[in-house]
Amino acid sequence: MKFFVDTAEIDAIAELNDLGMVDGVTTNPSLIKKSGRDIIEVTKEICDLVDGPVSAEVTATDAETMIAEGRKLVEIAENIAVKVPLTWDGLKACKALSDDGHMVNVTLCFSANQALLAAKAGATFISPFIGRLDDINLDGMDLIADIRDIYDNYGFETQILAASIRSVNHVLESARIGADVMTAPPAVIKSMINHPLTDKGLDAFLKDIAAADIKIL
Ligand code: G3P
Repeated sequence: MKFFVDTAEIDAIAELNDLGMVDGVTTNPSLIKKSGRDIIEVTKEICDLVDGPVSAEVTATDAETMIAEGRKLVEIAENIAVKVPLTWDGLKACKALSDDGHMVNVTLCFSANQALLAAKAGATFISPFIGRLDDINLDGMDLIADIRDIYDNYGFETQILAASIRSVNHVLESARIGADVMTAPPAVIKSMINHPLTDKGLDAFLKDIAAADIKIL
């Protein structure tokens, strides 16, 4: 499973990247707003830091402008994936940009039928939003499983990018189902390491190290 970091915070990306935890980055207008940075400037900085795909989202809602914005975004770096919303105009932009050989991430996916349309429009990534489905008492994981089945049934190469991940269980379930990629905020990725028995076990070892004065160096 590939790990993308869902943030536009450079320091957080760099910290995880140094640990080999970053296969790519996803941003969206809300994350750019949160960073307080210029979209082109911060996206370039992220692309310089990370080798894998960096999703940068268009701001327009009509296909023609989305395509123009996408063409500008891909000039930032070779690893840009243009992010477009799951609308007919978004799919039109997806088709045009992917036909040009660019990576496209189709975002705001909330149904398997939408994911099917995105795959047919040549999307590199489809981003089903798990957490936002859970927010309205639906099961985001059912959507990931349905898309996995459908893509496998027909051999679609569009990668399932589990997004709107809010908890470590979302990561675990997405991995179980076979999502190709998950994108999560840095805090969620960092909390994947937590286990009380690891802490307890290490405490006991440290006590014995001190009691027996065990030294290696
Ligand atoms: O990857 C999409 C993500 O940024 C949305 O997450 O938590 O705002 O639903 P959230």
